Amino acid sequence: MSLKDKIDPSKLPEHIAIIMDGNGRWAKQKGEERIFGHESGVKSVRDSVEAAAEIGIKFLTLYAFSTENWNRPKEEVIALMQLLVYSINAETETLNKNSICLKAIGDLKSLPSDCYNELMEAIDKTKNNTRLTLVLALSYSSRWEILNAMKKIALEIENKTLSAAAIDESCIQKHLCTVNIPDPELMIRTSGEHRISNFLLWQIAYSELYFTDKLWPDFGKEDLYEAILDYQNRERRFGKTSEQLIL
Ligand code: FPP
Repeated sequence: MSLKDKIDPSKLPEHIAIIMDGNGRWAKQKGEERIFGHESGVKSVRDSVEAAAEIGIKFLTLYAFSTENWNRPKEEVIALMQLLVYSINAETETLNKNSICLKAIGDLKSLPSDCYNELMEAIDKTKNNTRLTLVLALSYSSRWEILNAMKKIALEIENKTLSAAAIDESCIQKHLCTVNIPDPELMIRTSGEHRISNFLLWQIAYSELYFTDKLWPDFGKEDLYEAILDYQNRERRFGKTSEQLIL
Protein backbone atom coordinates (compact mmCIF):
# COMPACT_ATOMS: atom_id res chain seq x y z
CA MET A 1 0.00 0.00 0.00
CA SER A 2 1.52 3.32 -1.02
CA LEU A 3 1.54 6.29 1.37
CA LYS A 4 -1.06 8.05 -0.79
CA ASP A 5 -3.52 5.18 -0.34
CA LYS A 6 -3.17 5.36 3.44
CA ILE A 7 -4.49 8.95 3.52
CA ASP A 8 -8.04 9.23 4.87
CA PRO A 9 -9.88 11.51 2.37
CA SER A 10 -12.44 12.44 5.03
CA LYS A 11 -9.73 13.91 7.30
CA LEU A 12 -7.77 16.01 4.83
CA PRO A 13 -6.49 19.42 5.87
CA GLU A 14 -8.24 22.04 3.77
CA HIS A 15 -5.17 24.28 3.76
CA ILE A 16 -1.47 23.36 3.96
CA ALA A 17 1.25 26.01 4.28
CA ILE A 18 4.89 25.23 3.53
CA ILE A 19 8.12 27.00 4.50
CA MET A 20 10.37 25.83 1.66
CA ASP A 21 13.82 25.88 3.25
CA GLY A 22 17.24 24.44 2.50
CA ASN A 23 17.84 25.30 -1.16
CA GLY A 24 21.15 27.01 -0.38
CA ARG A 25 22.49 24.14 1.75
CA TRP A 26 21.37 21.61 -0.85
CA ALA A 27 23.35 23.45 -3.54
CA LYS A 28 26.39 23.84 -1.27
CA GLN A 29 26.44 20.09 -0.55
CA LYS A 30 26.73 19.61 -4.29
CA GLY A 31 29.46 22.24 -4.68
CA GLU A 32 27.07 24.48 -6.64
CA GLU A 33 25.93 28.11 -6.38
CA ARG A 34 22.88 28.86 -4.17
CA ILE A 35 20.71 29.74 -7.17
CA PHE A 36 21.13 26.17 -8.44
CA GLY A 37 19.35 25.12 -5.24
CA HIS A 38 16.47 27.52 -5.94
CA GLU A 39 16.21 26.29 -9.54
CA SER A 40 16.08 22.71 -8.29
CA GLY A 41 13.46 23.74 -5.73
CA VAL A 42 11.02 24.57 -8.54
CA LYS A 43 10.58 20.82 -9.16
CA SER A 44 9.56 20.35 -5.53
CA VAL A 45 7.07 23.21 -5.94
CA ARG A 46 5.60 21.45 -8.98
CA ASP A 47 5.48 18.06 -7.20
CA SER A 48 3.82 19.52 -4.09
CA VAL A 49 1.21 21.41 -6.11
CA GLU A 50 0.47 18.29 -8.17
CA ALA A 51 0.22 16.05 -5.11
CA ALA A 52 -1.98 18.54 -3.25
CA ALA A 53 -4.35 18.88 -6.21
CA GLU A 54 -4.49 15.11 -6.77
CA ILE A 55 -5.54 14.28 -3.23
CA GLY A 56 -8.05 17.14 -2.92
CA ILE A 57 -6.33 19.81 -0.80
CA LYS A 58 -8.15 23.11 -1.43
CA PHE A 59 -5.43 25.65 -0.46
CA LEU A 60 -1.63 25.41 -0.62
CA THR A 61 0.44 28.39 0.54
CA LEU A 62 4.16 28.50 -0.25
CA TYR A 63 6.61 30.89 1.43
CA ALA A 64 8.61 31.81 -1.67
CA PHE A 65 10.23 35.12 -0.62
CA SER A 66 10.14 36.84 2.75
CA THR A 67 10.44 40.55 3.52
CA GLU A 68 13.78 39.65 5.14
CA ASN A 69 15.00 37.91 1.95
CA TRP A 70 15.51 41.37 0.38
CA ASN A 71 18.66 41.53 2.56
CA ARG A 72 20.32 38.65 0.70
CA PRO A 73 23.18 39.37 -1.75
CA LYS A 74 21.87 41.43 -4.67
CA GLU A 75 22.76 38.75 -7.27
CA GLU A 76 20.74 36.12 -5.39
CA VAL A 77 17.70 38.41 -5.09
CA ILE A 78 17.83 39.24 -8.82
CA ALA A 79 18.28 35.58 -9.77
CA LEU A 80 15.38 34.52 -7.52
CA MET A 81 13.09 37.17 -9.03
CA GLN A 82 14.05 36.07 -12.56
CA LEU A 83 13.37 32.46 -11.61
CA LEU A 84 10.01 33.44 -10.22
CA VAL A 85 8.97 35.34 -13.35
CA TYR A 86 10.20 32.49 -15.53
CA SER A 87 8.42 29.83 -13.47
CA ILE A 88 5.12 31.73 -13.30
CA ASN A 89 5.26 32.28 -17.04
CA ALA A 90 6.10 28.66 -17.77
CA GLU A 91 3.45 27.19 -15.47
CA THR A 92 0.36 29.33 -16.17
CA GLU A 93 -0.95 26.98 -18.88
CA THR A 94 -0.48 23.92 -16.63
CA LEU A 95 -2.25 25.73 -13.79
CA ASN A 96 -5.22 26.35 -16.09
CA LYS A 97 -5.24 22.77 -17.42
CA ASN A 98 -5.46 21.52 -13.84
CA SER A 99 -7.94 24.18 -12.67
CA ILE A 100 -5.51 25.70 -10.18
CA CYS A 101 -6.16 29.28 -9.13
CA LEU A 102 -3.07 31.37 -8.36
CA LYS A 103 -3.09 34.02 -5.63
CA ALA A 104 -0.30 35.97 -3.96
CA ILE A 105 0.08 37.55 -0.53
CA GLY A 106 2.70 40.07 0.58
CA ASP A 107 4.01 43.49 -0.29
CA LEU A 108 3.57 42.75 -3.99
CA LYS A 109 4.15 46.35 -5.06
CA SER A 110 7.76 45.99 -3.85
CA LEU A 111 8.48 43.32 -6.48
CA PRO A 112 10.35 44.34 -9.67
CA SER A 113 7.79 45.54 -12.22
CA ASP A 114 8.25 42.61 -14.67
CA CYS A 115 7.75 40.15 -11.85
CA TYR A 116 4.69 42.02 -10.57
CA ASN A 117 3.15 42.21 -14.05
CA GLU A 118 3.71 38.49 -14.80
CA LEU A 119 2.21 37.63 -11.46
CA MET A 120 -0.89 39.78 -11.97
CA GLU A 121 -1.37 38.34 -15.45
CA ALA A 122 -1.16 34.74 -14.15
CA ILE A 123 -3.51 35.57 -11.26
CA ASP A 124 -6.00 37.04 -13.71
CA LYS A 125 -5.72 34.13 -16.17
CA THR A 126 -6.34 31.53 -13.45
CA LYS A 127 -8.91 33.39 -11.39
CA ASN A 128 -11.89 31.19 -12.32
CA ASN A 129 -10.17 27.88 -11.46
CA THR A 130 -11.65 26.01 -8.52
CA ARG A 131 -9.80 22.74 -7.84
CA LEU A 132 -6.94 24.13 -5.73
CA THR A 133 -5.87 27.64 -4.76
CA LEU A 134 -2.09 28.06 -4.83
CA VAL A 135 -1.05 31.03 -2.71
CA LEU A 136 2.47 32.38 -3.17
CA ALA A 137 3.80 34.41 -0.25
CA LEU A 138 6.09 36.96 -1.91
CA SER A 139 7.85 39.77 -0.12
CA TYR A 140 5.69 38.59 2.76
CA SER A 141 6.17 38.70 6.49
CA SER A 142 3.57 38.24 9.14
CA ARG A 143 4.53 41.31 11.17
CA TRP A 144 4.30 43.42 7.99
CA GLU A 145 0.84 41.95 7.35
CA ILE A 146 -0.41 42.51 10.92
CA LEU A 147 1.02 46.04 11.00
CA ASN A 148 -0.78 46.82 7.75
CA ALA A 149 -4.03 45.40 9.08
CA MET A 150 -3.71 47.61 12.20
CA LYS A 151 -3.13 50.69 10.02
CA LYS A 152 -6.19 49.92 7.87
CA ILE A 153 -8.33 49.44 10.97
CA ALA A 154 -7.00 52.68 12.51
CA LEU A 155 -7.85 54.57 9.32
CA GLU A 156 -11.40 53.22 9.33
CA ILE A 157 -11.77 54.36 12.93
CA GLU A 158 -10.36 57.79 12.01
CA ASN A 159 -12.88 57.98 9.13
CA LYS A 160 -15.63 56.83 11.50
CA THR A 161 -16.51 53.82 9.33
CA LEU A 162 -15.57 51.46 12.17
CA SER A 163 -15.97 51.67 15.93
CA ALA A 164 -13.42 50.29 18.41
CA ALA A 165 -16.16 48.14 19.94
CA ALA A 166 -16.67 46.39 16.59
CA ILE A 167 -13.07 45.11 16.42
CA ASP A 168 -13.11 41.37 16.97
CA GLU A 169 -11.14 38.40 15.58
CA SER A 170 -13.19 38.31 12.43
CA CYS A 171 -12.61 42.04 11.85
CA ILE A 172 -8.82 41.53 12.13
CA GLN A 173 -8.97 38.46 9.87
CA LYS A 174 -10.79 40.52 7.21
CA HIS A 175 -7.94 43.05 7.17
CA LEU A 176 -5.18 40.45 6.67
CA CYS A 177 -3.89 39.42 3.21
CA THR A 178 -5.47 36.00 3.77
CA VAL A 179 -9.04 37.30 3.74
CA ASN A 180 -11.27 34.52 2.30
CA ILE A 181 -8.53 31.92 2.84
CA PRO A 182 -9.11 29.50 5.75
CA ASP A 183 -6.38 29.14 8.37
CA PRO A 184 -3.93 26.33 7.56
CA GLU A 185 -4.55 23.17 9.60
CA LEU A 186 -1.03 21.99 8.75
CA MET A 187 2.23 23.92 8.41
CA ILE A 188 5.33 22.15 7.09
CA ARG A 189 8.94 23.35 7.28
CA THR A 190 11.76 21.58 5.51
CA SER A 191 15.52 21.55 6.20
CA GLY A 192 15.52 20.63 9.89
CA GLU A 193 15.00 24.18 11.19
CA HIS A 194 12.34 24.45 13.88
CA ARG A 195 11.24 28.05 13.33
CA ILE A 196 8.24 29.87 11.89
CA SER A 197 10.28 32.79 10.48
CA ASN A 198 7.53 35.41 10.46
CA PHE A 199 5.10 33.30 8.40
CA LEU A 200 1.30 33.41 8.95
CA LEU A 201 1.65 34.09 12.69
CA TRP A 202 -2.01 35.02 13.17
CA GLN A 203 -3.30 32.20 10.97
CA ILE A 204 -1.37 29.31 12.59
CA ALA A 205 -2.86 29.76 16.07
CA TYR A 206 -4.19 26.17 15.96
CA SER A 207 -2.15 24.69 13.10
CA GLU A 208 -0.32 21.42 13.47
CA LEU A 209 3.40 21.97 12.83
CA TYR A 210 5.42 19.39 10.92
CA PHE A 211 9.19 19.59 10.57
CA THR A 212 11.28 17.41 8.28
CA ASP A 213 15.05 17.25 7.83
CA LYS A 214 14.67 16.97 4.05
CA LEU A 215 16.09 19.96 2.20
CA TRP A 216 13.48 21.59 -0.07
CA PRO A 217 14.86 20.33 -3.44
CA ASP A 218 14.65 16.76 -2.04
CA PHE A 219 11.03 17.20 -0.90
CA GLY A 220 8.66 15.25 -3.15
CA LYS A 221 5.11 13.92 -3.32
CA GLU A 222 5.81 11.06 -0.88
CA ASP A 223 7.10 13.59 1.67
CA LEU A 224 3.88 15.58 1.41
CA TYR A 225 1.83 12.38 1.87
CA GLU A 226 3.95 11.52 4.91
CA ALA A 227 3.28 14.94 6.45
CA ILE A 228 -0.47 14.57 5.83
CA LEU A 229 -0.48 11.08 7.41
CA ASP A 230 1.34 12.45 10.44
CA TYR A 231 -1.27 15.23 10.68
CA GLN A 232 -4.11 12.69 10.44
CA ASN A 233 -2.70 10.80 13.42
CA ARG A 234 -2.74 13.85 15.67
CA GLU A 235 -5.51 14.77 18.05
CA ARG A 236 -6.61 18.36 17.49
CA ARG A 237 -8.10 19.53 20.77
CA PHE A 238 -8.42 23.33 20.31
CA GLY A 239 -7.98 23.80 24.07
CA LYS A 240 -10.45 21.05 25.03
CA THR A 241 -9.65 17.73 26.74
CA SER A 242 -9.46 14.38 24.91
CA GLU A 243 -12.59 13.23 26.76
CA GLN A 244 -14.58 16.24 25.55
CA LEU A 245 -13.68 15.40 21.96
CA ILE A 246 -15.19 11.92 22.27
CA LEU A 247 -18.56 13.23 23.56
C1 FPP B 1 14.79 28.95 1.12
O1 FPP B 1 16.03 28.27 0.99
C2 FPP B 1 14.16 29.17 -0.16
C3 FPP B 1 13.87 30.40 -0.71
C4 FPP B 1 14.20 31.67 -0.06
C5 FPP B 1 13.25 30.53 -2.03
C6 FPP B 1 12.25 29.51 -2.46
C7 FPP B 1 12.08 29.62 -3.91
C8 FPP B 1 11.91 28.59 -4.76
C9 FPP B 1 11.75 27.17 -4.37
C10 FPP B 1 11.92 28.90 -6.22
C11 FPP B 1 10.70 29.15 -6.97
C12 FPP B 1 9.42 29.26 -6.32
C13 FPP B 1 8.24 29.27 -6.99
C14 FPP B 1 7.01 29.47 -6.22
C15 FPP B 1 8.12 29.05 -8.44
P1 FPP B 1 17.35 28.99 1.52
O2 FPP B 1 17.95 29.75 0.39
O3 FPP B 1 17.02 29.81 2.73
O4 FPP B 1 18.23 27.76 1.91
P2 FPP B 1 19.35 27.71 3.07
O5 FPP B 1 18.61 27.90 4.37
O6 FPP B 1 19.90 26.33 2.92
O7 FPP B 1 20.35 28.78 2.78
